[in-house]
Amino acid sequence: MKKIEIATNDFLIPMPMALIGSKEGDQANFMAAAWFNRVNARPPMVMVALIKSSQTTSNVVANKEFSINIPSFDLMEKTDYCGIIPGKKENKAELFDLFYCDLKNSPMIRECPLNYACRLTDQTELPSHIVFFAEIMHAYCEEKFMTQEKPDIEKIRPFILSLPDNRYWYVGKYLGNAWTNSEL
Ligand SMILES: Cc1cc2nc3c(=O)[nH]c(=O)nc-3n(C[C@H](O)[C@H](O)[C@H](O)COP(=O)(O)O)c2cc1C
Repeated sequence: MKKIEIATNDFLIPMPMALIGSKEGDQANFMAAAWFNRVNARPPMVMVALIKSSQTTSNVVANKEFSINIPSFDLMEKTDYCGIIPGKKENKAELFDLFYCDLKNSPMIRECPLNYACRLTDQTELPSHIVFFAEIMHAYCEEKFMTQEKPDIEKIRPFILSLPDNRYWYVGKYLGNAWTNSEL
């Protein structure tokens, strides 16, 4: 089958959406992010790649803390807004009901089913973005989004981004169990 060479920037993997929470003084701020992931097992660690010019980047550099909030698809419009409007222009924290743990510079969004309060451990500067590595210090979920005491993807209803077409999608149907196909 003929492979067509495409632009190296046409990088299509489904990317779950998050809202990154941070603080400047007393002011909480939230930005949309798709470039984040889990990167270590124990302790649980994450990475998030943030564009250097964002308010969130300044806040994370200053406070060494941030939160990752996973929105349900009913928060799609607000999430998108937080990805367009800079915190320097608007108070995006007004859109949400906030709560805190002992990491006071890690504001979390009550409406988001999953919340992770993170402490910065390391960072790597790339040409356009800084990749921040952080340990998850606290994680929160509501009972209504859980099954047998674990977060349940069907109840949480996260949404994903496709690039380069810039579209949001539901997470689709259950396909099968992972780590079960050791024999073919
Ligand atoms: C769908 C979507 C995904 C985004 N993903 C990222 C990302 O992973 N990293 C990033 O630095 N900016 C990302 N952005 C852009 C920031 O959210 C945007 O620059 C925002 O205005 C920064 O807000 P702040 O200045 O209040 O921190 C994304 C925007 C959208 C709409």
